Amino acid sequence: MREIDLKSYAKVNLSLDVTGTRPDGYHDLSSVMQRISLYDRIHMEWIRQEEAAGEEPDIRIEVKTNRPYLPVDERNLAYKAAQIMIRHFAREAGVGSGIIRISITKSIPVAAGLAGGSGNGAAVLIGLNRLWNLKLDTRQLCRVGEELGSDVPFCVLVQNSRYRAALATGRGEVLHPLKKCMKKYVVLAKPSFGVSTKEVFKCIDDYEITQRPDNGELIRGLAAGDDRLVYKNMINVLELYTLDHYDPVAQLKEICRTQTPAEMVLMSGSGPTVFAVYASEKEARSACQLLRGMRYEAYWAGTDGR
Ligand code: C5P
Repeated sequence: MREIDLKSYAKVNLSLDVTGTRPDGYHDLSSVMQRISLYDRIHMEWIRQEEAAGEEPDIRIEVKTNRPYLPVDERNLAYKAAQIMIRHFAREAGVGSGIIRISITKSIPVAAGLAGGSGNGAAVLIGLNRLWNLKLDTRQLCRVGEELGSDVPFCVLVQNSRYRAALATGRGEVLHPLKKCMKKYVVLAKPSFGVSTKEVFKCIDDYEITQRPDNGELIRGLAAGDDRLVYKNMINVLELYTLDHYDPVAQLKEICRTQTPAEMVLMSGSGPTVFAVYASEKEARSACQLLRGMRYEAYWAGTDGR
C-alpha cells in the first residue's frame, strides 16, 4: 500500500469580471484569484491488488468524508478526479488493479464560492500523480483539471507550485501566475444557505455591468504593495445578481463593513461567502468572534496561504 497526505486549500476571488458569453455555454472571465490558508485534509491510499491471470485490470474508488450530507460517488469532485486519472493514465502507466481510497476531512464550507470541492479534485489529481509515479508536471495536471471544473486548474497551480495567486481568464482555466500575492488576513463569513454557481452565471446576462475591475491595475497594486490600487479594483460583478436576490449576503457585507475594522469587503466567486480583509491577525480573529456570536459560519485565515 502507498499513501499520501495533502492539504486542499480554499481560494477567494480578489476580483471577478465577466467579459462575455461563450459558444460552450460558459462565460469568459477575468479574475484575480488567491489561495488562503484555510484547507481540507485529504488522505489517499493506493492499495494494489493482483488480478487473476487473463483478467482486465480493475480499479475501485472509495471516498469518505466527515460531512454526512456530501455525496461520495461521481457527484463528488474527488471521486470524479480519480475517474479521470484512471481513464487517462492507468492503462498507459500499467498501474494494474487496486483500490483508490480517499478520505476528506472538510473544514472549508461547501457550496460557498471558495472552490472547496474543486480543491479536493485538484488534490486527488496531484495525489494519484505521486502515488502512481506518473511524473506529470503542474502544467499537465492543470490541463487534466480543466475537465473537472473551471476553478480546478487554479487549485492545481496553487497546491503544486510556489504560486499563491493568478489571473484567471478564459472560463477560468487560462492562468497567468502572479509572483506577488496579497499579504493580509481575511474573515470568511457565510449565511446559512448555498448559492448555485450555474444559477448566478445564467442570470448575470440580464444585468448591465457598469463597474468592472481593472485587473492590470490590481496586479500592479499587488506587485507594488499598494493597497489603494488593490482595493479600488476589488470588484466582483457577480455581486450584482447575488446581492440583489439574496438579501442576507448584502446584510452580511454591511455588518463586516460597519461593525468591524475591515479594509475591504467582497463576495467570493458566485457567493454566498463574503470575505473581509484585515491588516492584522488580531483584528481578523476578533471580527470572526463577533460574526460567530451573530450565528454566522465564520473563519479567519491568512491570504498568502501559509
Ligand atoms: O466549471 P464549473 O463546473 O465549476 O462551473 C459551474 C457552472 O458555472 C457551469 O455549469 C456554468 O453554468 C457556470 N460557469 C460559467 N462560466 C464560467 C464558469 C462557470 O458560466 N467561466
